[in-house]
Amino acid sequence: MKNKIPIIELKWDTRLLKKKIGRLCMLPNHVKKIDTILDVARSKGYLYLTCRIDPPEFSQVRSLESAGFYLTDVGVTLEIKKQDLYLGENLLKVPINTATIKDIPILKKIIKSLFLHSRFYHDPFFTKDDADKIYQAWIEDAIKGISADKVFWVKNKGFVVCKKSHLKIGEISLIGVANKFRGKGIGRALLASSLEWFYSQGLNKVRVRTQLININSLKFYLSAGFKLCSCDMVFGKIL
Ligand SMILES: CC(C)(COP(=O)(O)OP(=O)(O)OC[C@H]1O[C@@H](n2cnc3c(N)ncnc32)[C@H](O)[C@@H]1OP(=O)(O)O)[C@@H](O)C(=O)NCCC(=O)NCCS
Repeated sequence: MKNKIPIIELKWDTRLLKKKIGRLCMLPNHVKKIDTILDVARSKGYLYLTCRIDPPEFSQVRSLESAGFYLTDVGVTLEIKKQDLYLGENLLKVPINTATIKDIPILKKIIKSLFLHSRFYHDPFFTKDDADKIYQAWIEDAIKGISADKVFWVKNKGFVVCKKSHLKIGEISLIGVANKFRGKGIGRALLASSLEWFYSQGLNKVRVRTQLININSLKFYLSAGFKLCSCDMVFGKIL
């Protein structure tokens, strides 16, 4: 192996954080080969690599651990089919609108430190400021239609980001309610709007990925009728 390595540069992350970040996208069987890849990655200026294994196999986990990668996330994907949706008897009636460019500054405030279960907030490579920046840029791109198809929000309180996936499956990329408004039914009302929108687009299957450690969000989805679909593990390595 000379200079060709199974690493894809994550250009969005690199540009945003001004640190060269890549994804190890194919895992060789031998630790020695991973070490060679890491050397080439260093020589190309990479500072950090992420590697997602989906579905996780323990032989891959061991290889990554031997090469010094550490676990940063265990993801759970849930799925709901239209007929399984259960939103309870008393769905909150609250104005829910499509978020537009003028709403970006408020949404950037709401999203700051909202997704504390995500890997970005506890991986030592990322500072808290990096993690905030990632989510703020994410919501901005979503509203501009760069990374998502629709963003609904309850003014000043919460939002949901919807994306049509290439498999004709809807994807809830992000859903969040500001801390002090949680537990009042806003999340469920946002979920209802997003699912209604997906169905109106002809997508009858909707998926969401969350963290295994985010028990409240798992309860939130399961109680609405989502079913477990798959899991993955994400590792990181500072170079
Ligand atoms: C997950 C989240 C969006 C839920 O929003 P919310 O407005 O608080 O949720 P709701 O009030 O609509 O609750 C709906 C149901 O979810 C479940 N739920 C929500 N919060 C819960 C909690 N803290 N503990 C246990 N169950 C909870 C319950 O089943 C609840 O139904 P119930 O009130 O009939 O018991 C919100 O907690 C949040 O923003 N969390 C931080 C960001 C996040 O983790 N997002 C999801 C990751 S993809």
